[in-house]
Amino acid sequence: MSHATQATAFVCPSLPENAFATDVLTGLGHTPKSLPSVWLYDRRGCELFEEITGLDEYYQTRTETALLGECAAAIADVIGPDAVVVEFGSGSSRKTPLLLDALVTPRAYVPVDIADDFLDDAVAALARRCPGIPMLPVRADFTRPFRLPPQLHDTQGPRLGFFPGSTIGNFAPGQAAAFLAHVGKMLGARRRMVVGVDACKDPAVLLPAYDDARGVTAQFDLNLLVRINRELDGNLPLDAFRHEARFNVAASRIEMHLVAQRPCHADVLGQRITFAAGESIHTENSYKYGPTEFRALATSAGWDVERVWHDARSRFAVYLLGPAGNA
Ligand code: TRP
Repeated sequence: MSHATQATAFVCPSLPENAFATDVLTGLGHTPKSLPSVWLYDRRGCELFEEITGLDEYYQTRTETALLGECAAAIADVIGPDAVVVEFGSGSSRKTPLLLDALVTPRAYVPVDIADDFLDDAVAALARRCPGIPMLPVRADFTRPFRLPPQLHDTQGPRLGFFPGSTIGNFAPGQAAAFLAHVGKMLGARRRMVVGVDACKDPAVLLPAYDDARGVTAQFDLNLLVRINRELDGNLPLDAFRHEARFNVAASRIEMHLVAQRPCHADVLGQRITFAAGESIHTENSYKYGPTEFRALATSAGWDVERVWHDARSRFAVYLLGPAGNA
């Protein structure tokens, strides 16, 4: 295994070349209109998301970072030496050092992310921060089946999945269970997983986290239209759309929408798309789970909850999962 700091990403064969075009034409061709949220994360999207994580209203990142600081040593104790750490949707990998520093002789770090050039920069920065740990980036959409890099196929030690940021909430519950089950198989018998989960709470706290006063989240959402126009030869009228966060109580989720303020139309890759006034493109869900709901989800996917940490106000929780029946 090489200790290269500028590792080239292993491009997972499961990401089709024209996936973006297919998803956009399908999502905008149906009623109601929707777009998979993975496409929010082009370079500009990653930068804007980084900015979101620093906003006052976005309590999630600072709450989770503090929690990880508190529980990293206990997690490292449970995991033991020589673990391979696999992070899903690693983005800037800013929380990763909290884990890597605590673990005893981690064998490798495998960041999995769809944002390629952003991933390269993040991995380079982390390699400087945590020298001596081999970095094996994988460019993949982890919402679809993907594989670990071939170098890892016959490593024997523990494998720790790391899934912070409440990204699990961006799946519908059924998909979240399927994802956890798939990851369980991929990580194998000596698997564990650390998952950060945002809890259900007062909409007065939740809504501003997805619709901040400075409009950074609005820009992040609208950037998806900018990306479609640039990459898919589109002419969506940006000034016609407004970002809106809604709390869907029944589904226990925040929804992000881009709402057309007037009737309009556009062409994307030669396909005509029309919008009625008030019609929305549903761009993201962020499901919220309390401890009971999250435990049920994990159990349904073949995992047991071994430990839970949460902040004093129970806004956010970090779960340590292990194989079902291990305890
Ligand atoms: N995982 C994050 C969350 O659900 C992603 C996120 C935060 C997000 N803010 C957003 C996604 C705004 C879309 C728009 O909290």
